[in-house]
Amino acid sequence: MAKQVQARIISTGIYLPERIFTNSDFEKIVDTTDEWIVSRTGIRERRIAGQDEFTSDMGTAAAQDALKKAGMTAADIDLILVATMTPDYTSSSTASIIQAKLGANCVASLDIQAACSGYLYTLATAKAYIESGMYRNVLVVAAEKMSSFIDYTDRSTCILFGDGAAASIVSNQGEGLFINAVTLGSDGEMAELIVIPAGGSRLPATAKTVSDKMHYFKMAGKETFKHAVRRMVMASNQCLEKAGIEDRALSWLIPHQANIRILEAVAKSFHIPEERMVKTVHKYGNTSASSIPLALYELVERENIGEHEHILLVAFGAGLTWGAIVLTKIMK
Ligand code: ACO
Repeated sequence: MAKQVQARIISTGIYLPERIFTNSDFEKIVDTTDEWIVSRTGIRERRIAGQDEFTSDMGTAAAQDALKKAGMTAADIDLILVATMTPDYTSSSTASIIQAKLGANCVASLDIQAACSGYLYTLATAKAYIESGMYRNVLVVAAEKMSSFIDYTDRSTCILFGDGAAASIVSNQGEGLFINAVTLGSDGEMAELIVIPAGGSRLPATAKTVSDKMHYFKMAGKETFKHAVRRMVMASNQCLEKAGIEDRALSWLIPHQANIRILEAVAKSFHIPEERMVKTVHKYGNTSASSIPLALYELVERENIGEHEHILLVAFGAGLTWGAIVLTKIMK
C-alpha cells in the first residue's frame, strides 16, 4: 500500500514594518497610559506599516524570505493561500496580487478570511490539498495591515493591534513540522462581537458610514475575552485528543497573541511550564492572522526542535472562529 502523504511546514519567513509605535506614542494621541496598556494587555509596542506599504507587500516579502530559506523559487510553488482580514482590496484577492508580485507562474491563489484564526484555517487547507495529492508545494501567507482598519481615536481597540506578515512553505516531503492533528470551529451567532460593520454588501460605503466611522474595526473586548479563553482551551483539548497525546507531551505552546492575560489563562489549563509558551505580544501586539506564524518563526529560528517534538498552535478570532493544530517534527 502507498505510504500516506504527510503535509509538513519545511520553512518559515517573516516581514515586519520598520516603524515601532510604543505605548508612550499612544499616550500622545488617546487618553491612556503605558501602565494601563501593559497591565491589561502585556503589549509594550507594535509595528505600523508605512502609508505606501500594503498587506500584499508585507505578504510578498515574508513569502520571499520563506522561499529563500527552503532553497526554492516561486516556480516551485503550486498554490498560494493567504490568510488576511485586511486585504488590499475587497476584490481582487490579496493572494492573486502576491502571485503576481512573486512572479509565480499563474498558479492558483485564494484568500482565506478567518480573522485571527486565519493561519490555522490556511494551514489546514494546505494540508488537505497536499494530502489529497492535488498539490505538492503550497505557499501559506498570513499578512495584516490592521492599522488601515483601526480607529486611532478609540482607545479600547487602537492600542491592541499591529501590522506584520509571516509565510510558511507547506510541502509533501522534506524535514519539517508535520501538520499532525487539526481542530477548527466557528459560531456566526456572535459575528457582531468583532466586526467591521461597513464596506460590505450589508452597509456599502456612503458619506454617512464614513462619518459614523463604520469602516473601522469594532470589538466588545470583555465579552470577546471570555469566549477566547473558553474556545481556545476547548479546541486545544479536542486537538490533543485527535493527535493521541497528552498536554504533558507538548514541547511548546503557541497561542494567538491577543493579550497576555488570555495567553496566561489558556496556559493555566495545561501542564506546560510558562517558559514553554511562546510570547511575542509585548513587541508586536495583536497582528491577527500573522500572530501565530510570527511566533512560530521566532521559535523555529531560536530552538533546535528535535524529532517527534510536538508544538500546539491555538487561535481564536472574529467570526467567531477558533482552531488548534498539533505540529510534530519529522526528519524526512
Ligand atoms: N487606556 C485606559 N483605559 C482604557 C483603555 C485604554 N487604552 N481602554 C479601555 N479603557 C477603560 C475603559 O473605558 C473602562 O473604563 P470604565 O470602567 O470607566 O468604563 C476600563 O478601562 C475597563 O475597560 P474594559 O474594556 O472592561 O477592559 P478589559 O480589562 O476588558 O480590557 C481588552 C480590554 C484589553 C480589550 C480586553 O477585553 C481584551 O483583550 N479582550 C479580548 C481581545 C481578543 O481576544 N481579541 C481576539 C480577537 S481579535 C480578532 O479576531 C482580529
